[in-house]
Amino acid sequence: MSQVLIVIPTFNEKENIANLIGAIEKESLSVDILVVDDNSPDGTGKIVDKIIKEKKFVSIIHREKKEGLGRAYIAGFKWGMERGYKKFVSMDADFSHPVSAIPSLVELCDAKSLAIGSRYIKGGKIVGWNSKRFINSWGANLFTRTLLRLRAKDVTSGFKCFPIEFLKSIDLDAIQGSGYAFLVEMSLLAQEGGFKLRETPITFTDRVAGESKISGELKKSVKLVFKLAFGKKSYRQFAKFAVVGASCAVIDWGIFYLIKIILNKYAPDIDLQVARQISKAASFVVSASANYYLNRIWTFKSRDSAVVAQATKFFVVASIGLLFNSAIFYLVTALLGWRDILGLIVATGIVTIWNFFLNKKWTFKVK
Ligand code: GDD
Ligand code: MN
Repeated sequence: MSQVLIVIPTFNEKENIANLIGAIEKESLSVDILVVDDNSPDGTGKIVDKIIKEKKFVSIIHREKKEGLGRAYIAGFKWGMERGYKKFVSMDADFSHPVSAIPSLVELCDAKSLAIGSRYIKGGKIVGWNSKRFINSWGANLFTRTLLRLRAKDVTSGFKCFPIEFLKSIDLDAIQGSGYAFLVEMSLLAQEGGFKLRETPITFTDRVAGESKISGELKKSVKLVFKLAFGKKSYRQFAKFAVVGASCAVIDWGIFYLIKIILNKYAPDIDLQVARQISKAASFVVSASANYYLNRIWTFKSRDSAVVAQATKFFVVASIGLLFNSAIFYLVTALLGWRDILGLIVATGIVTIWNFFLNKKWTFKVK
């Protein structure tokens, strides 16, 4: 028996699974393979049943029904833990994850670190995705990384290697993600448990045969990422920051209209455009100052005496954020064709997160 178990979940992979097993065998690595099949209607399980008669290093778990990638992995990891494997590789059945990278992935994985086959570090790349799929995946990765503050470049990669020390340290039954976000959750647990996330570059190639099952998973995964983020301490701070930001936006509008009304009444001769500019400038100064002050005393509880320097930084962050906001809005609406309201929400969301971290680390210097 080898020390390394490659766990491959399958759902309708009849064109791929035999070839993949063959390709792994050809590399003559010292690894065993476990296929976890969710009763694929296309007969993937039966194909593997035949293979295991000849190849002793291959095993299979047949599960009754499709329960998602995460559940399949949990079953696979438990199976391997009972049999004493030391390292566990997660891998797609569709050749997206290069067999040739298995040795470096396994090498990188040790008692204190989880290894990630990374598309987004130097040397890594993606072949065969159209720009839409790329932007979606890249965005999902950035969103996940930022929100969960994971210390790796490719946190949504499905190609990873887990040491037994980590698997033993967690409760696999308490994992919340049943689908694609499962591996993200595992990385977060590893980081919080003091394990390092180490990356090795891979070339991710889009599948040639069979179909991807990822569509429909996005919403579920985004929800889980939010849920995981809520569980983190820094989330409370972020929630305060967002509340302050939203309140100040309301203040901004309120003051804008108030000043406009006053000018209208007491200085009716003033040019309309000039009145609007005066109102806008005044409301901005008031609301941004309030925004800064509330974040200082409530969100970040800062005692730093250099208020002017701090406020200046806060204004700089806000101004850059405004530019980003327009850029993102333009990108998703004009280039990707999203609806305006969705673009607005996404742009504001991303910029709020961005502003939060900059202010936290740079303006208020919170550890
Ligand atoms: N047993 C089981 N049950 N296997 C499943 C299920 C399920 O419900 N859903 C998917 N799979 C298997 C597929 O057969 C494949 O071997 C692997 O899980 C990955 O599924 P794909 O459908 O090929 O995923 P993808 O290529 O679109 O998604 C890629 O990106 C994700 C996010 O970045 C993969 O690299 C994923 O691993 C990654 O999480
Ligand atoms: Mn795939």
